[in-house]
Amino acid sequence: MSILQFPPGFRWGTATSSFQIEGAAELRADSIWDEFCRVPGAIADGSDGRVAVDHYHRYAEDVALMASLGMDTYRFSVSWPRVLRPDGSADPAGMGFYDALVDALCAAGIRPWLTLYHWDLPAWLPGGWTNRATAEAFADYALRLHGVLGDRVRVWTTLNEPWCASFLSYAGGHHAPGHTDPAEAYAAAHHLLLGHGLAIRALRAADPDATLGLTLNFTPAYPADPDDAADADVVRRIDGTAHRIFTDPVFRGEYPADVVADAGAAWPSELVREGDLALIAAPIDVLGVNYYTSQLIRAGEPSAQPTPHPAAPDAVTVDRDWLGRTDIGWEVTPDAFRELLIGLHRDYTGPAGIPLAITENGAAIDDPDPASGPIEDRERIDYLHRHLTAVHEAIEVGARVDTYLLWSLIDNFEWAFGYTKRFGVVAVDEALNRVPKASARWYSELIRTSTLCLPEQA
Ligand code: FCB
Repeated sequence: MSILQFPPGFRWGTATSSFQIEGAAELRADSIWDEFCRVPGAIADGSDGRVAVDHYHRYAEDVALMASLGMDTYRFSVSWPRVLRPDGSADPAGMGFYDALVDALCAAGIRPWLTLYHWDLPAWLPGGWTNRATAEAFADYALRLHGVLGDRVRVWTTLNEPWCASFLSYAGGHHAPGHTDPAEAYAAAHHLLLGHGLAIRALRAADPDATLGLTLNFTPAYPADPDDAADADVVRRIDGTAHRIFTDPVFRGEYPADVVADAGAAWPSELVREGDLALIAAPIDVLGVNYYTSQLIRAGEPSAQPTPHPAAPDAVTVDRDWLGRTDIGWEVTPDAFRELLIGLHRDYTGPAGIPLAITENGAAIDDPDPASGPIEDRERIDYLHRHLTAVHEAIEVGARVDTYLLWSLIDNFEWAFGYTKRFGVVAVDEALNRVPKASARWYSELIRTSTLCLPEQA
């Protein structure tokens, strides 16, 4: 048995998001996800977030559960339409909910890590993220929430996965609002980044000591044949709209020229105004990384179907049959995680002098029903084990990573998959009781020791 020790001060926790767990939808206005759930066929099991796992009413129990598992940090998101009303006034009950949640976390010794935007955009904002005014509204929301929670919440993430909130939502049609227009996706991406920049400026002015950042999702793409120019080029284009369109403005103050060129006529004229990039590039204190899988890509015939990769309609995913897959179909590729962290540190966060935090990583596993007895989710533990080994390897060779937040604390509403995919280390039974899985006990022990035990290689 060999042992991997994480550095002193390394922080551990779990992550969730408002729409996926809270429920109590009748106590707030609609978000675009409420509307999307009403579209026939949009959600695999026809479900919605009206009750979810009822965290709104059971938050105290959930905080106690986290405390019993020894969690250090809890990353949650705030539902914008719960705390602000369509007329712009604050909703006292909504604000009060997060006030109480944060109080409970602090009382339990758990550090609150707040994400301002995890996709549940108020439905009343005209045009959603295609409208520049939404970026301004976002900064206003950020500041008002900070006024209530800023004394206790010291880590603020502006956006969760702007790629999903733009390309997957406005070009691919898979997420709310379910549109399939590449020009809308480029506009949404820019306005999300602008909202990030405006919120950073507002929060920094209000609270210079706060830790501020954003979370991006990375799905590294590799060419099926690295010596094939067409494969290499389609991978470059996917990497452009999935990753570099976000990292480069934030860390370098510019959109990559190839990304803008590839967008062609789909890049809206006059989208980027003077001063926008300077705002977007304002220094941040941490980059959140969400990682689940990677993909092998080859160039094929251009498809006419809507795609979340509008610059790469010719991309074809090549199945790697030799790799395991989680229940959501994602290949298990921990080596790509290690390489990603090393690359991000080298190219972006290292030069910026800031750390990386893993803000999501986890596995969907087809767990048995909690009614049938204890859930021994060995596959999830194996996934986590392998990915944490990758994080440790990246740290060993110099990548600065200081936090790991597992997705997710609890089984929840997995967006277009509804409740069919389970990512939690805690299950939820029919009566919405919380039932920790074997992975919860495993993770708790890992947190206690900050040590990963590796079986001896045969
Ligand atoms: C990420 C989302 C998160 C969850 C996981 C599985 O893209 O941020 O809400 O759905 O995937």
